[in-house]
Amino acid sequence: MAGKQPVNIVKMKKMKQEGTPLAMITAYDYPSAQLAEEAGADILLVGDSLGNVVLGYDSTIPVTLEDMVYHTRSVARGAQQTFIVADLPFMTYHGSIDETLRNVRRLMQEGHAHGVKIEGGTEIEATVRAIVQAGVPVIGHIGLTPQSVNQIGGYRVQGKDAADARRLMEDAKALERAGAFGVVLELVTEEVATAISRELSIPTIGIGAGRGCDGQVLVFHDVLKYSANYRDKRFVKTYADIGADIRRGISEYVADVKSRAFPAEEHAFRADQGVTDTLDTLYGKGKVEVRS
Ligand code: KIV
Repeated sequence: MAGKQPVNIVKMKKMKQEGTPLAMITAYDYPSAQLAEEAGADILLVGDSLGNVVLGYDSTIPVTLEDMVYHTRSVARGAQQTFIVADLPFMTYHGSIDETLRNVRRLMQEGHAHGVKIEGGTEIEATVRAIVQAGVPVIGHIGLTPQSVNQIGGYRVQGKDAADARRLMEDAKALERAGAFGVVLELVTEEVATAISRELSIPTIGIGAGRGCDGQVLVFHDVLKYSANYRDKRFVKTYADIGADIRRGISEYVADVKSRAFPAEEHAFRADQGVTDTLDTLYGKGKVEVRS
């Protein structure tokens, strides 16, 4: 967006204090980043959901650090005025702190992210603290954490009972204590997400976490139905159907090629008359005649 002041982590906290919602959306490549920036998104998340919506895996687990660096770099080229957060993918922050910091360095220096997102709560408090102490903005991610889907036993709503509510609150507070600049709450009951949002001084960003969060995030492909077989989700509101537009556009293109309606005269480049004469002389008349 021309002349836009990029949001940074100080401004995000101020926006929470002022009650101004933060709008975050995922992006995975140059055009999606450019369009999301032009549309005014505050934060772009290069989510490891790229495994599902771009790379065709059935979970985020196969996504590698290499995939994340590659996609983050193309997002950063497309959105130079927007705060970009990159996901630390599966098992890239469970080894030593040195190894974790090496992985974070790649997302920042090679991917050109401005911050990283990390899944987990109390169990990763020390890791988050070490990344923050290295000077890197970190946003936590609790509730439904897709990298642990096999442990959680599926994509289930979190925070339905009191024990779970307490656990989520403790996780959120651990992340705040460790210096995270925000917390993503995924598939968390509205009551629990609202309580966490009120208890923390850092912004919460919800996805399927109701109306009480300080901001919202959705997956680009969900907002726009950018898929061949889009499946409705209760927590998503769709704003376009570009899957249908793409299918229609490409079938019309294929039909036009088959019927020779494309390319038409206006799509072709014409040579000088002299070129036609030369070709006629060299190769015989009729070679340059265009079929209509
Ligand atoms: O990977 C992702 O897109 C995410 C969002 C769903 C928050 O983590």
